[in-house]
Amino acid sequence: MRVFVSRRIPEPALERIRAAAEINLWESDDPPPYAELSERVRGVDGLFCTLNDRIDALLMDAAGKQIKVISIMAVGYDNIDVRAAAERGIAVGNTPGILTETTADLAFTLLLAAARRIPESMAYIREQRWTTWKPMDLLGRDLSGAVLGIVGFGRIGQAVARRAQAFGMRILAHSRSLTDEQAAAHGAERADLHDLLTRADFVSIHTPLNDSTRRLINAETLRLMKRDAILINTSRGGVVDQRALYEALRDGVIGGAALDVTDPEPIPLDDPILTLPNALIVPHIGSATLQTRTKMALMAADNLIAGIRGEPLPNRVQPR
Ligand code: GLV
Repeated sequence: MRVFVSRRIPEPALERIRAAAEINLWESDDPPPYAELSERVRGVDGLFCTLNDRIDALLMDAAGKQIKVISIMAVGYDNIDVRAAAERGIAVGNTPGILTETTADLAFTLLLAAARRIPESMAYIREQRWTTWKPMDLLGRDLSGAVLGIVGFGRIGQAVARRAQAFGMRILAHSRSLTDEQAAAHGAERADLHDLLTRADFVSIHTPLNDSTRRLINAETLRLMKRDAILINTSRGGVVDQRALYEALRDGVIGGAALDVTDPEPIPLDDPILTLPNALIVPHIGSATLQTRTKMALMAADNLIAGIRGEPLPNRVQPR
């Protein structure tokens, strides 16, 4: 059996794969260019990829009829044409569950950092503006008593709700099929998107990116939000219209944003959103702890190995 692994990954996962297959490894932290990826997958039984490899029908056909599995080391799989894979009998696996707490930690870190203006405070010192303790400078927002709107109430959204409860926040939750009872079981009130955006002091996005969530946050929906509201996005950059967000932040339509994900990634250094003091942006580090990345790589390895053996994947993605 032959597999292609499209990135440097934690060694325990490589060892596990090596015991089951011959590995062709892309020994870099950067993704292989699409043309190179198309070459490398030719004739493989399985592909281990990450979230910035574009895996479309053409790539699957370049791999050839023998390919049985595409295993992504991520929970989100919007970069894979899952329908095209299903049509070709290729199983697709992802890594849900194990990165929930780690990603919720980062969402909450961003929420706190934006609420208390941490990046601006650091810049304040560097700019030599810390001349004395000023009663009216760098005033942030309290979490206690504030309303957090969670858009997408799956595992990660719910883990964020647990953290918010501990900080005394009131929680509104919006998800496609969420019932009042399910929301209440997590200490949240179910709300439709309009209601949530209008009432929330903080809005945190936890939806997958798909046709119904692409640019869900746009000029129109941003205008529904409170003028001092803070938007947090740790899902996918494509859920937010980034140009509209830039304008909303610049013009005071909303108060601030904290993003772990951008559109595109990496964010071009000339993107005007990077010039704004009320935009906090980090480079897609939601699941970035050694423990979690190792667990993700191992789970993706298990999906890959099961797939090349023609066995059921421990975590198989179904086409929507
Ligand atoms: C990271 O963004 C993931 O989907 O796992």
